[in-house]
Amino acid sequence: MSQSLTLRRPDDWHLHLRDGAMLRAVLPESARHFARAIIMPNLVPPVVTSDDARAYRDRIIAALPEGAAFTPLMTLYLTEETAPADVARAHAEGLITAVKLYPAGATTNSASGVRDFDKVRPVLEAMAEAGCPLCVHGEVTDPEIDIFDREAVFIDRVLDPVRRATPGLKVVMEHVTTRDGVEYIKSADSGLGGTITTHHLIINRNHILVGGIKPHYYCLPVAKREEHRLALRAAATGGDARFFLGTDSAPHTDANKQSACGCAGCFTATNTMSILAHVFEEENALDRLEGFAALNGPVFYGLPANEDTISLTKTDQPVAYPEQIVTGDGPVTVFDPGFPLYWQVG
Ligand code: NCD
Ligand code: ZN
Repeated sequence: MSQSLTLRRPDDWHLHLRDGAMLRAVLPESARHFARAIIMPNLVPPVVTSDDARAYRDRIIAALPEGAAFTPLMTLYLTEETAPADVARAHAEGLITAVKLYPAGATTNSASGVRDFDKVRPVLEAMAEAGCPLCVHGEVTDPEIDIFDREAVFIDRVLDPVRRATPGLKVVMEHVTTRDGVEYIKSADSGLGGTITTHHLIINRNHILVGGIKPHYYCLPVAKREEHRLALRAAATGGDARFFLGTDSAPHTDANKQSACGCAGCFTATNTMSILAHVFEEENALDRLEGFAALNGPVFYGLPANEDTISLTKTDQPVAYPEQIVTGDGPVTVFDPGFPLYWQVG
């Protein structure tokens, strides 16, 4: 008897779809399993105004495969020039679901991010009033701070002060990578959630650096020590509704990854659900996968859970995933968890 599992259709609360040829190639990989996704605005140039968001949403919808039911939940890229009224109006119209804060220079295409957090206070106030969540890339960019400490320092220097100064603002600490992040989220009374990626449940920093440098495991925030990976696994599989899936699937061509200055990002859209089922089974928590991937996110965002379902079946033979997907810009390598996967969607 093969084992199977049915859950509400999952959503992805942090996704990079890019634009143009890359968008057309990666979008079907997410639309196959996920009903909705929070779409990151770090295009070049970034999605900063409601007009930008409307145009990008329309390009995503136009790129959907025939018959696909997938809703992009749009975000605006917060800059020091963002107009509070534009954000409030876009949120009220349902055009945007959240606003994204990148500290300037923290990651791929973040040069227009925020340097002086006081400058964005009026926008944050307007968002708190409107109930529009702030999605936060939680790393400081101070060159003095070691890259492995940047999340923990961000909590003290930026995240906690911002939350105290703007009570009522809903905040998502995205792609949490440390025990410190998990503990900070757990310490909050309300209004704070955290997304956890697929790859941070699998890799620690050794995977990137031991036995040769592995560009396809390099992402930001960078994977940390094993103790942090274990804290993330406990948080994801522990049934605490404040944690939910945000894959941070971030496609870059192999040419851009396998380079003397390789881009950050793991492309996990294709095999995320198989990997998650594997992880939740290992943690004896298959019954909590639905909460993490399909229920907790909608509760945080005040949206209904999806009505339809997906099924996963455990197979005898490993599931065959492509090593790469083909895009008009060049091949993109699919995240390799480093072990065979037996849970197949469908
Ligand atoms: C993301 C990207 O490529 O846009 N990269 C990544 O490593 N996660 C940016 C981000 O979310 O930090
Ligand atoms: Zn991201």
